[in-house]
Amino acid sequence: MTHDNERLTGANAGTDLDWDAQAAAFDDEPDHGLRDPEVRRAWAERLRDWLPGRALDVLDLGCGTGSLSLLAAEQGHRVTGVDGSPAMIDLARAKLAGRDAVFLVGDAAAPPVGEQRYDVILVRHVVWALPDPGRALRHWRGLLRPGGRLVLVEGVWGTVTPAGIPADVLTGLVTPLAAEVRTERLSGEPALWGKEVSDERYVVVAMV
Ligand SMILES: C[S@@+](CC[C@H](N)C(=O)[O-])C[C@H]1O[C@@H](n2cnc3c(N)ncnc32)[C@H](O)[C@@H]1O
Repeated sequence: MTHDNERLTGANAGTDLDWDAQAAAFDDEPDHGLRDPEVRRAWAERLRDWLPGRALDVLDLGCGTGSLSLLAAEQGHRVTGVDGSPAMIDLARAKLAGRDAVFLVGDAAAPPVGEQRYDVILVRHVVWALPDPGRALRHWRGLLRPGGRLVLVEGVWGTVTPAGIPADVLTGLVTPLAAEVRTERLSGEPALWGKEVSDERYVVVAMV
């Protein structure tokens, strides 16, 4: 595929990252750790909008330290988190200790969830780091129950040496898989990032 894959700026840089080495300091970024109450509130509000009201089974792929998993659990959802980094998974398990949540070490592109199916697949800042995003998206669609949705928060970070996946590329990959696709720009909302940002940040919500 590779017209679209060729346009994934920085995708190779993403696949080469040592996420275990980044785990200890990962939450220091405002939008990672969500320690600032204003940033936390901004993500909680967004999540409430992206995950419809009732208690849902949510699969958080590339869950990292579990910051979004925790927000989802706090909103009453049952969460399964998967990440390739054991160090990230250790931190996620500690963060959600006592919650209705399970964390697994595994490949986000083909998560080790057996026959289990989900209402929502939530993925933040991970698609850009996968070697074949189109293939992963097709697999994820098969893990959703009828009426389920993909919630994909991605971006192109930095302006000098940008890395990430542009919104039009991701939207193009998702559209053939979904009944309805909504792409929202998130760059203009400093409360989400803890600062003003001028690069491309967005969410794609795809109903299958
Ligand atoms: C930028 S972090 C995002 C973490 C989390 N989703 C968040 O928004 O806070 C990317 C995460 O994806 C994980 N990851 C990257 N590629 C992966 C893969 N192929 N399989 C599983 N996890 C992967 C990394 O270990 C890392 O925890």
